[in-house]
Amino acid sequence: MIDSQPTRNLALELVRVTEAAALAAGRFVGRGDKIAADKAAVDAMRLILNTVQMDGIIVIGEGEKDEAPMLFNGERLGTGEPPMVDIAADPIDGTRPTAHGLPNAIATVALAPRGTMYNPGPFVYMDKIAAGPEAKDVIDIEAPVEENLRKVARVRGEDVDDLMVVILDRPRHTELISRVRKVGARITLIPDGDVAGAIMTAMPGSKVDLLLGIGGTPEGVLAACAMRCLGGNIQGKLYARNEEERRLGEELGYDFNKVLTLEDLVSSEDVFFAATGITDGEFLKGVDYFADGATTESVIMRGLTGTSRRIIATHRLTKLSKISQIPY
Ligand code: FBP
Repeated sequence: MIDSQPTRNLALELVRVTEAAALAAGRFVGRGDKIAADKAAVDAMRLILNTVQMDGIIVIGEGEKDEAPMLFNGERLGTGEPPMVDIAADPIDGTRPTAHGLPNAIATVALAPRGTMYNPGPFVYMDKIAAGPEAKDVIDIEAPVEENLRKVARVRGEDVDDLMVVILDRPRHTELISRVRKVGARITLIPDGDVAGAIMTAMPGSKVDLLLGIGGTPEGVLAACAMRCLGGNIQGKLYARNEEERRLGEELGYDFNKVLTLEDLVSSEDVFFAATGITDGEFLKGVDYFADGATTESVIMRGLTGTSRRIIATHRLTKLSKISQIPY
């Protein structure tokens, strides 16, 4: 008989972190300043993460790719009391859409027990394949894309031309895109935001079946935390942008041919994940302002139970500004 009591669900606290980041970034939507938006979200995230009762260390801080403001890898956050956790944070996944007022920007964060998150070192790009629970056992990043598409279609009881594949719209994906099209699958080309892209493959009711292609490594680890909760799967392979990175990888003991399984990306199921929309997207609605207030939409998840919650919050900005340093 299971006699333990339900334990603390840190995702219920993390939602305040992503809401704060989204509300702070929301003021910069369409203002054309990526760095200012990112800084506002980073500052808000740091402030609220520090109020969470935990001894947290940033493993995935994001930002190195484009020298944006960031939470620093190795930075300690939280009150310093147990539990000891690793933190993956992306205060804005979609700084460009935020700055340009385009869809699909989110604020996101995940926690896992200390030492269980993959540390990618300085390597910022990862080749990825992600799918939802039905296809979790058939995807294989080493297999040809055509084979993956046929297998995913088969386990879903569909034809390949019923599938919808999400791919980041980048020149590096030209060949991948044409191979996917050749076998007849449909594609959603996303300008940014492959955390949401990966998660959508596993969200009940979503129209997306598979994510393919090279995106950020931090985003890969964050998506893996969500996949742990949703029962989907993601595999990755670090991607070297040039010979110099390949050599550095060898020096530091990173293997660009190694398949990073879901378990490699986050080795514990005891994970917590939260995301809040900054701009409107299929995954989450963005921040919406009204006189003296704003609404946010978030998703929070817990790996141990697989519970996922959608939280719509109404925030009263005059009241908040009396008690918080965040410029809402
Ligand atoms: P940022 O907002 O942090 O720049 O990330 C946006 C993003 O689209 C990610 O979702 C994706 O993983 C990565 O950038 C892809 O990198 P790049 O834009 O360099 O191809």
